[in-house]
Amino acid sequence: MKLAAGPPSASLGASVAQKLRVETIGVTYKRFPDGETYVRLEGGTKGDELILVQSFCSPQAENLMVLLQMASAAVGLGVSSLAAVVPYLAYSRQDKRFLPGEALSAELVARNLEACGITKIFIIEPHSEESLSFFSIPCYTVSPVEDTAEFLRSRGDCVVVAPDEKRIPDAKNLAARLSADFGWIQKSRDRSTGSVKAEIGNVPKTSRVAVLFDDMISSGGTVVKAAELLRSAGFERIEAGCVHGLFAHEAEQRMTEAGVSFIFASDTIESKFTRYSVARSVAESVKKELL
Ligand code: R5P
Repeated sequence: MKLAAGPPSASLGASVAQKLRVETIGVTYKRFPDGETYVRLEGGTKGDELILVQSFCSPQAENLMVLLQMASAAVGLGVSSLAAVVPYLAYSRQDKRFLPGEALSAELVARNLEACGITKIFIIEPHSEESLSFFSIPCYTVSPVEDTAEFLRSRGDCVVVAPDEKRIPDAKNLAARLSADFGWIQKSRDRSTGSVKAEIGNVPKTSRVAVLFDDMISSGGTVVKAAELLRSAGFERIEAGCVHGLFAHEAEQRMTEAGVSFIFASDTIESKFTRYSVARSVAESVKKELL
């Protein structure tokens, strides 16, 4: 078995390969002057069992295209099996037609990944079950909750807060591993304007530190609203983290101004906020399903 990681996942891919004790093959990537991407796999041969690792961080459409190109290259080499690890599956929030006339983007992504020859896929912390329902190939979800807990364990006591009711199971699971309490914020989003409304659901005040934990942080709007509520509720320190740190536009500034004093994310998307790796969970899942 061999592993090839695309440009945004080079470091995560190398860690996963090391844990699995499999050989890595290089990926040559460049952009033509007009913007088109070029990909070449260096070193794969006919009959290889290959795992591709490629996150769909920004620029999402381009990184999706690069994975399609990596898969096409692998098929051209004559690999005997082709699996993909997608650390961050972009477009997964568009898993429904919320308003008439919208595209079902999550379905489009799944169809394209299958069409290019990938036969098994691993997704880390998918946004929703719906976004995975569009895959007809085996699709394995990787939970990085233990990686997150291990990182937070070293930081002292806290209350884990879900910034949205949908994230209660994650916050509860994380809190249990930390032997901490958990709470939640009730959030609603205007589908047309994207503006967020929030109010405290239930947050026990059993620590001076509140850690907001979401699957992803994009504009930071969700965290900002939640942080304002937690400050009013009397928490002295507010930290915010996620698995997938998109951190678009002025997210850092907005969160800092709202009183967030520490921001963290995993390496499904590498950034200056990456503080822990999901490599161990990915390697365990790949080992269980493929080796
Ligand atoms: C939404 O359902 C997600 O779980 C996140 O809460 C959301 O995508 C975060 O986005 P933003 O940082 O732009 O509020």
